[in-house]
Amino acid sequence: MEIKTYLNNQRLAVEGALEGYMLAAGVENGLFAAHVEAMRYSLFAGGKRIRPILCLAAAEAVGTRPELDADLLPIACALECIHTYSLIHDDLPAMDNDDMRRGKPTNHKLYGEAGAILAGDGLLTWAFDLLSGEESGLPPEKRLAIIHLIARAAGSLGMVGGQLLDISNEHKEFPFETLRAIHRSKTGALIMASILAGGVAAGADQGQKEALRCYGEQVGLAFQIVDDLLNATSTTAQLGKAAGSDACRGKATYPAYFGIEATRQKAEAAVEEAESALISFDAKADPLRAIARYIITRSH
Ligand code: IPE
Ligand code: IPE
Ligand code: MG
Ligand code: MG
Repeated sequence: MEIKTYLNNQRLAVEGALEGYMLAAGVENGLFAAHVEAMRYSLFAGGKRIRPILCLAAAEAVGTRPELDADLLPIACALECIHTYSLIHDDLPAMDNDDMRRGKPTNHKLYGEAGAILAGDGLLTWAFDLLSGEESGLPPEKRLAIIHLIARAAGSLGMVGGQLLDISNEHKEFPFETLRAIHRSKTGALIMASILAGGVAAGADQGQKEALRCYGEQVGLAFQIVDDLLNATSTTAQLGKAAGSDACRGKATYPAYFGIEATRQKAEAAVEEAESALISFDAKADPLRAIARYIITRSH
């Protein structure tokens, strides 16, 4: 399959749906227009949309009902809102203090720190509005299971906790297991939840969920390893965000532990393991397989 075309089509579907849900919410011109503009600024600033695309691809791998895409899109969009909120907060002066994201000035550069904090809060909360509202026709039991797994992954035992570990361990030496735990929580948890949400929506059985979990673990790992690698080896223009910043901030990263070449090999090994996890799936899992490959060849 042609992964670039697939990713592009899925990205456009997600962005179209996001735009539609926002318009339907009717929040653009009222009292909160400035706040909504700040949310929209980061949400539509670009971005690969990899989490919603993984969610849709996982459902496809399990075998979608024809109407599942429509039911799943609000969930896919909610994942992107949670991710975008995490980036807005990640860039704040109190956290990574970055000036550029997705090729544009970071949210707080335009809307100030309070505006950016609230834009993030707004996106996080809107995500749960989308997950629980009438946009999706998924039955309540599936919705509840999905809301629960996404909340778990985004919260203190997942992404939020991981962000604190990442920040509080700057300029410190710690064992490799701690680095792995930081990656697993700050990045891996939401990626895993995106994949499992798609699987649950499509009615995955226990064995399929287990396989998706193994795939998600390895893809999440590969994703953050490549983020670290690109930070160390690419340029700010290419990435649309500051290159070389991890070393400046004393972040522990895979390249810092293992060097560039061994890190590349570890990313490759994670992708191979992700592919093996899908052994029991048929060709409907080809998009998941191709996304795993794409993750280590991506340039931004
Ligand atoms: C960047 O995520 C932050 C990490 C969790 C590694 P992405 O690389 O998915 O960023 P966008 O959404 O494409 O901008
Ligand atoms: C971002 O991690 C993780 C989250 C936002 C949850 P990083 O700080 O390593 O990502 P970039 O390099 O700023 O995108
Ligand atoms: Mg960070
Ligand atoms: Mg950062």
